[in-house]
Order: sequence, then structure tokens, then C-alpha cells
Amino acid sequence: MGEEILNGEQLIVPAHVAIILDGNGRWAKKRGLPRSMGHREGCKVVEQTVEDAARLGIRFLTVYGFSTENWKRSDDEVSALMQLFRYYMKRLLVIAKANNVRVLSIGDRSRFAPDIIEGINALERETAMNTGLTFVIAVNYGGRDEIRRAAVKLAEDVRNGVLSPKDITEEDITRRLDTRGIPDPDLLIRTGGEMRLSNYLLWQCAYTEFYVTDLLWPDFDRTELEKAIRAFNKRDRRFGGVKESQNG
Ligand code: IPE
Ligand code: IPE
Ligand code: MG
Repeated sequence: MGEEILNGEQLIVPAHVAIILDGNGRWAKKRGLPRSMGHREGCKVVEQTVEDAARLGIRFLTVYGFSTENWKRSDDEVSALMQLFRYYMKRLLVIAKANNVRVLSIGDRSRFAPDIIEGINALERETAMNTGLTFVIAVNYGGRDEIRRAAVKLAEDVRNGVLSPKDITEEDITRRLDTRGIPDPDLLIRTGGEMRLSNYLLWQCAYTEFYVTDLLWPDFDRTELEKAIRAFNKRDRRFGGVKESQNG
């Protein structure tokens, strides 16, 4: 985590910020627009947030774009979301290159259409050498599915004799998750006011600080991101221990 000056204040900028962008549908409904318009507006805000996070000195930004449960939505909404992925993946590549951003994706991409899979692969491949912000997009991502897939890998390693069940450590699990190499989130921001995880980063959020705002995702901006960082700076993270001053 880095010390940064934000508008004259000395603040700790969390190394990893995770976001559950929620409220696109409600944003559109309030305006009498189709839900897909909310998603389009939401994509623009994702772009802006990547730039803001890079400028604020955040090292990792992980955004929940599409959950393993979101396939339950209407065919119309799912295909509108797929079209938006196609369009914004290309824009994201340009933005990532311009801002020295490395892009990674978590989730099971195999369920997407071949051109979307290739788009995600290209984003990762063509930004792999960038050294600034790492932007992680969670698509067809579910925390339980991720842990299930890690369990399959563990089982295979046990079967192949590389690992013995009694020796399995937390680190062995961490290394088989999609987020391998990425530190756990320090701060989780959820827009749309819901106080739940919705299957996001279940393993990784064990000691993450939560910040929930009623703002709908298309209304999120840099001011709100800074507000969340300020709230984070007031938290007392104990990780199950006791504060030094309260010892004895
Ligand atoms: C979040 O907005 C975007 C995705 C889940 C893809 P929603 O579409 O969930 O918006 P609300 O919660 O219905 O307002
Ligand atoms: C979480 O939002 C998933 C994403 C942001 C991609 P949802 O709108 O799907 O979550 P629930 O249904 O309110 O829990
Ligand atoms: Mg929602």
C-alpha cells in the first residue's frame, strides 16, 4: 500500500481495490430506458475508473463484470451484455496501452463465444509487459466455481502423486485459484446498496474491508472512489489479532 496525497490529505491508497458494480438496471429503469442502456453507461464508468485507479496509484483493481449466476437473465439481456463485451474489450485494449495497464481476467472464459475468448486472450497477451495498474476483469466468475476448479486441480495432483492430502496447505489452494499471484483485496466497494457478496472473491475477501454505497454504478465517479479510500483509512484492520495499544 502506498502513501499518497489526495487533495492535500495524506492517505494510504489500498494496494488492491475490488468492485461489485451493481445498479445498472435500476439506473436505466429510473430513466425509463432498457436495462441494456444501463449496462452501456456502466461500461463507460468502468473505463473511467480504470484511468482513475491508475492515477491514484492503486496497484490492483478487480471488477465484477458478469457472474456465473448472471446467465439466468433474459436472453436479450445476456446477448446485450455479450455485445458490450465485444465493443469494450477493443476500447479497453487502447486504454490499457495508453495507461501502462496490465489486464487479466478471472472466471471460466470457456463458456463464452470464441471471438470473446480470443478478445480476452488478446487483452492479456498484449498488455502482459505493462508495469502500472493491474486491471482484473471477473467474467463468468463465481467464487464457488473458482474454488471448485481449484479442488479439481488439487485432486488431480493427489492422483498423480505430486501432493499428499494431509500436506495440503492454504497456500496450495491459493495457488490454484484464478487470482494466483494477485494479493487479496484490501477494500471491496459495492454500489447499488446491497449488503452481500453475490459469490464474489469468497476465498480472497477473508479480511477485506467493505464499503457499500447506495449510488448506482453508472453514477460512480472518482469522488466516490476517493470517498471509499478515505473511509478505508479510518478502518482498524486487526486480522484476528489485538491492537498494540490494547495489549496487556
Ligand atoms: C450490475 O447491474 C451489472 C451486472 C450484473 C452485469 P445490474 O444489472 O445487476 O443492475 P440492477 O442490480 O438490476 O440494478
Ligand atoms: C453481482 O451483481 C454480479 C455483478 C456485478 C457482475 P448481481 O446484480 O448479479 O447480484 P445480486 O443478484 O443482486 O446478488
Ligand atoms: Mg444487480
